[in-house]
Amino acid sequence: MLTVKPLNDVVGAEISGLDLRETVSPEVCQTLNDLFAEHAVLVFRDQPLTPTQFMHAAEIFGDLMDQQIKKFVLPGFPLVGVNSTRDLPRKNGKLQVRGENYHTDHSNSLRPPKATSLLAVQIPSYGGDTQFVDVRRAWADLPADLKDEIAALRSRHVHESSRSPRAFAKLSPEEMALIPNVEQPLVIRHPVSGVPALYLNTGRMEGIEGMEPDAAYALIDRLYTHATHPRYEYRHRWAVGDFVIWDNRSVMHQANADYDPEEFRYLYRVMLKGDALQPAFELEAQR
Ligand code: SIN
Repeated sequence: MLTVKPLNDVVGAEISGLDLRETVSPEVCQTLNDLFAEHAVLVFRDQPLTPTQFMHAAEIFGDLMDQQIKKFVLPGFPLVGVNSTRDLPRKNGKLQVRGENYHTDHSNSLRPPKATSLLAVQIPSYGGDTQFVDVRRAWADLPADLKDEIAALRSRHVHESSRSPRAFAKLSPEEMALIPNVEQPLVIRHPVSGVPALYLNTGRMEGIEGMEPDAAYALIDRLYTHATHPRYEYRHRWAVGDFVIWDNRSVMHQANADYDPEEFRYLYRVMLKGDALQPAFELEAQR
């Protein structure tokens, strides 16, 4: 018996009554996909999955995508990445955690991953939560005049913005050659639900088309500050066996480096293929 419990009043739902090691029926698959489009973050507890079972569970929601950073791939499983403390450099004793500011994955791809999923294999005794903010609600709450101003804008997304607040993994020239710079709408429309959402990623956004850099970055910072307010947040406290999947078109997420660097944090990670992003509004704002 599948049960659905909202994670809080904002975003996300916990699903119970399902063993993700088992194959799900087409009806359950459809129900889960409907819930995913609505809630954007789904949490399934107590799922002790092997890498193969993890891949199959994620495939309920779509097709697996290649891992961009090959050095963080699980040996023998090219589509499964690993988030491991053992791969992280340190600076002044602090772990340089990947994903430590709010972002949406691979926004500089022509077809960014529609979803990302993590499976917790080992978790520190405290800290290391993953935070999510609902960028649909953040858009909906903007004042009408600001919506009019930004509705049809586009931003260039690159591997690492010249104003990025964090350093990205360095890619080999071969990996870099595979990454195009793309223009993405500032406000996207969800392909399933049709709901508009802000599309932001301060680590990758290189200005806004048609705007002077200072004005563009001031606008990006204003929208980012708004969208990352705790009123839009669900914060996931991990336990071993948690399977979490999120919709990169409806939420941003961020990692935290607030745990003991000597403790081991280890999660499997897959991404699901997405389509080119659709602007929510064309030149004339219609809301
Ligand atoms: C990420 O995918 O950005 C990392 C999330 C995490 O490790 O908490």
